Amino acid sequence: MNTKLMFKRDVKDKSESVNIVIDRFLPRKDEYPKKIHKAMRHTLFAGGKRLRPYLMISSNNLFSDRNEHIVEIAAALEIIHTYTLIHDDLPEIDNDDVRRGKPTCHVLYGPDLAVLAGDALLVNALELLSLVNIDSKLLRTVIAEFTIKCGASGLIAGQMADILNEAKPKTKEMLNFIHLNKTVNLFKLCTKVGAVVAKAKKDDIERMEEYGYCVGMAFQITDDILDIEGEEKTLGKSIGKDHISQKLTYPSLYGIEESKIEARKLVERADSLLEPYGDKAFYLKMLNEYIITRNI
Ligand code: IPE
Ligand code: IPE
Ligand code: MG
Ligand code: MG
Ligand code: MG
Repeated sequence: MNTKLMFKRDVKDKSESVNIVIDRFLPRKDEYPKKIHKAMRHTLFAGGKRLRPYLMISSNNLFSDRNEHIVEIAAALEIIHTYTLIHDDLPEIDNDDVRRGKPTCHVLYGPDLAVLAGDALLVNALELLSLVNIDSKLLRTVIAEFTIKCGASGLIAGQMADILNEAKPKTKEMLNFIHLNKTVNLFKLCTKVGAVVAKAKKDDIERMEEYGYCVGMAFQITDDILDIEGEEKTLGKSIGKDHISQKLTYPSLYGIEESKIEARKLVERADSLLEPYGDKAFYLKMLNEYIITRNI
């Protein structure tokens, strides 16, 4: 089998294990009040790439072979990521109609249900996290990582600055603030928590967090490029509007060519950070390349 196929199969296997945890954990679709449980599952199972769980599980695998607990933690992360997408698409924020190739949650169930579905996903993900059977001190560290990086001084601050800076003078500092908080935080969370749960050494944990920074930044730059150059049907989400609405993005500040060069540089740095792990980092290196060459 060629290496691309092996990578694809590894992503599929890890995604399936995460999907099983999510499916078992969330309330059933037919539980009263049915509509909210259906709305919660709609975007979750619409077909996301599951990149963040893959990153977390693969980062964990660099330092440990047992991954039953990391799959549960990765599932909680994917549920939180999905809540951020449901709220990001709301008419009051990005006002998008398509997500993961399906109508957005608010288009199908109404904005009231979409707000509640997002709220419920966030809280239920934290419940799932609280039930992970790892040593309590380690669990406290994991929960702190999640809440700090997703809270008002993390992801929410990034989403807020993203809204505030629409059609405003563009600065490099503000662009970095937005990217770091709205996107890179979750990537750093994945690579760091993966290493922390495997009880990696301090130096390795720091290295993995920096690695998360590089792939996360390269990911968001590519997302903004795809918003201009990509195909709506392939991407499965509404595109073109960020550009038109003058959001502060890499391409809007530096142009497309320079943005591509920056994303490539970040991936090269990401590769070099994985160098000490040799063959164990084989799939993560493939992920690095995928992140900037994807069309989906
Ligand atoms: C979209 O993330 C949100 C951004 C931070 C740009 P993904 O492109 O990973 O979305 P899914 O999970 O595959 O739908
Ligand atoms: C989304 O960023 C970031 C979060 C949801 C935290 P975008 O608004 O660029 O993501 P897409 O393009 O809608 O997927
Ligand atoms: Mg947005
Ligand atoms: Mg959006
Ligand atoms: Mg985008």
